[in-house]
Amino acid sequence: MTYQLNPAAFDPALFLANDWQQQPRVFRQAFVDFVDPIDGNELAGVALEPGVDSRLISCAEGQWDLRHGPIEDFSDVPDDHWSLLVQAVNEHFPPAQALLDPFRFIADWRIDDLMVSYSTPGGGVGPHLDQYDVFIIQGEGRRRWQIGARGDYASVTPHPELKQIEGFEALIDVVLEPGDMIYIPAGVPHAGESLTECMNYSVGFRAPSQAELISALADYALDKDALTTRYRDPTDARTTNSPSWHIDAASRAHFRKLIRDSLADDALLDKVVAQLLSQNPRPPLLVWPQEELTGSGVLRYIERYGSIQRAVGLRMLTSELNHELVGLVQGQVLALDEQSLPLFERLIDTPLEISSAELKPLLKTESARQLMLTLLNEGYWFAAEAPDES
Ligand code: SIN
Ligand code: CO
Repeated sequence: MTYQLNPAAFDPALFLANDWQQQPRVFRQAFVDFVDPIDGNELAGVALEPGVDSRLISCAEGQWDLRHGPIEDFSDVPDDHWSLLVQAVNEHFPPAQALLDPFRFIADWRIDDLMVSYSTPGGGVGPHLDQYDVFIIQGEGRRRWQIGARGDYASVTPHPELKQIEGFEALIDVVLEPGDMIYIPAGVPHAGESLTECMNYSVGFRAPSQAELISALADYALDKDALTTRYRDPTDARTTNSPSWHIDAASRAHFRKLIRDSLADDALLDKVVAQLLSQNPRPPLLVWPQEELTGSGVLRYIERYGSIQRAVGLRMLTSELNHELVGLVQGQVLALDEQSLPLFERLIDTPLEISSAELKPLLKTESARQLMLTLLNEGYWFAAEAPDES
């Protein structure tokens, strides 16, 4: 299945210029002939799989409750006023990955995951804010959405893990039908309430905070023995009149400088950012070959199997580090040249699987074969079919 935004309803260039990160918007029939990639039963099945993050949120007679999955038994849940929310369904239910494709007018590394919810009538998570921008697509059913203005709202926690806000006034109050979509920028209050049984698809974005970036820099530096300059007393600190227990102005200034100086190396910062963005926070499921492949074995291996698959959740990007184009896979930096680049780009654009026949023309050069060798030996790509013995 492929998904396409309806050009009559949604123009990516106009959206980026006028709305992205600025204001909420409703797009009627953003998709033409929208077909749900998954149904409620399949979603409940996905939520049973190991490693899947799911929540059942209900509100019976004003009493909010939240249960984490896996939820084996739905027999004790009522007929209404609850939602099942499942994170990263694109990774656990491959057909759902296609629903992220139309959003690639925004950089790949900005996209976090596809969260899918199934709700019964009256179901929702209550009025709240999210830290991240989100598109919410309406699948099956109808849901009322109220969206307000950014502001300082009192927060309430009707359940320890449920953060809601109080008293926002709806500036947008709409009922979404299948194929409609809303865009909600980070920090904009909203609340959805199902009118019927319904499916919603949330395309969530990633926006690292300064703390996450600095933490990634620190992790990198500790791991690679970088930023090793240590504190030394400044000359004027030895003449201070402060008592021995006081961290005086000269020392404070000296520490600030030491911290700021650690941010001065552009090449280091670019590398840390590239590695961070190419890592899926939910580690991918790597599949290693039974025996490590060698240079000459790559073509035979590819030929032996009908196709190779991408490890679930694998992130692949490119960037320039020290003025060289590089490939980035799950934090690993891989050299690219004119010969290996077409292979790398083709694999970036292959969310699930590529046939050996499509792959072989891309493996004509030694550097492309070397790249493929690394990708296979690292478990990033793998052959899953039974070997073709014919
Ligand atoms: C949903 O219930 O599908 C989305 C919840 C939200 O983030 O508003
Ligand atoms: Co939300």
